[in-house]
Amino acid sequence: MLLFFTLTCLPTFGQASLPLVINTWGFKNATAAAWTVLQSGGSALDAVEKGCGRCQREQCGGSVGYGGSPDENGETTLDAMIMNGNTMEVGAVADLKRIKNAIGVARAVMERTEHTMLVGESASVFAENMGFAAEDLTTAKSLEIFTQWLKGSCQPNYRKNVSPDPSKLCHPYKPLAELRPKERRLSANIRSHDTIGMIAFDRYGHLAVGTSTNGLNHKVPGRVGDSPIAGAGGYADASAGAAAATGDGDVMMRFLPSYLAVELMRAGTDPSAACETAISRIKRHYAHFFGAIICANATGHYGAACNKVPGLLQFHYMVADGGSDAPLLKSVDCF
Ligand code: GLY
Repeated sequence: MLLFFTLTCLPTFGQASLPLVINTWGFKNATAAAWTVLQSGGSALDAVEKGCGRCQREQCGGSVGYGGSPDENGETTLDAMIMNGNTMEVGAVADLKRIKNAIGVARAVMERTEHTMLVGESASVFAENMGFAAEDLTTAKSLEIFTQWLKGSCQPNYRKNVSPDPSKLCHPYKPLAELRPKERRLSANIRSHDTIGMIAFDRYGHLAVGTSTNGLNHKVPGRVGDSPIAGAGGYADASAGAAAATGDGDVMMRFLPSYLAVELMRAGTDPSAACETAISRIKRHYAHFFGAIICANATGHYGAACNKVPGLLQFHYMVADGGSDAPLLKSVDCF
């Protein structure tokens, strides 16, 4: 009887009814995995972990999970974050090596330590100690991307104001005496996908957000993007809403767009407008940045926004809620 009451009295809010899952890009299987958890009465945290975990295993878009975005040494490293919007606990890993399940390790950081973020080799050792399998994240595909890059004299890359070794046009790089303005690199702008960022509300009113990515092709080893940074890649506060960002993390993390969007929603801004303002704030300084954001307020209304650049005229994202009962592809025109 109690179960019947719970199921039939789920609130409905305009375009969305809770439970609800939203994620960046058309990563449908990730949405389905999270939705299955929510439908069967699972928690928002479990949904986000399962959804992002599915994307990691499927190597969504080549930009999530193992075997993508080899760095300057040819190694794939992972960034991920999970946040509980009810307790404000966060777990994150950055520059994680050898471990495929980055979102799982992030959750272990949140639930098995007093810390918020672990990085690099130490994060990997933590993961191994917690029982996560150590595996090679390199694949034939990532090796090929790396080999082609070496053949192309390590171009494009993310260096500026340095001169390469003249014989190889690669490292070691030396600083140039004079600093020159440089057009923001090409490689971040030609991606067609990026991070999975996922927001989930469960039937108990709990809210969570998660992110997972392998970063950028040819990044400088040690580079960490926006995805594992609370407030940048994602943010959740059950009293206001949640947001998750995707795109050029080096630029986007300077503006904490997810935090900004959540605070705007707290002040009453509708989710689409909150997303647009978060994008506009970045555009003011980086007109050509590649990026998008999804937002959902505390009542489950949602929206998205993206910056219009040649490779991104429309941004696709996925939604599953009680109304559709299945993952639906949504899109928003970039501005
Ligand atoms: N948004 C993913 C990254 O820049 O690493």
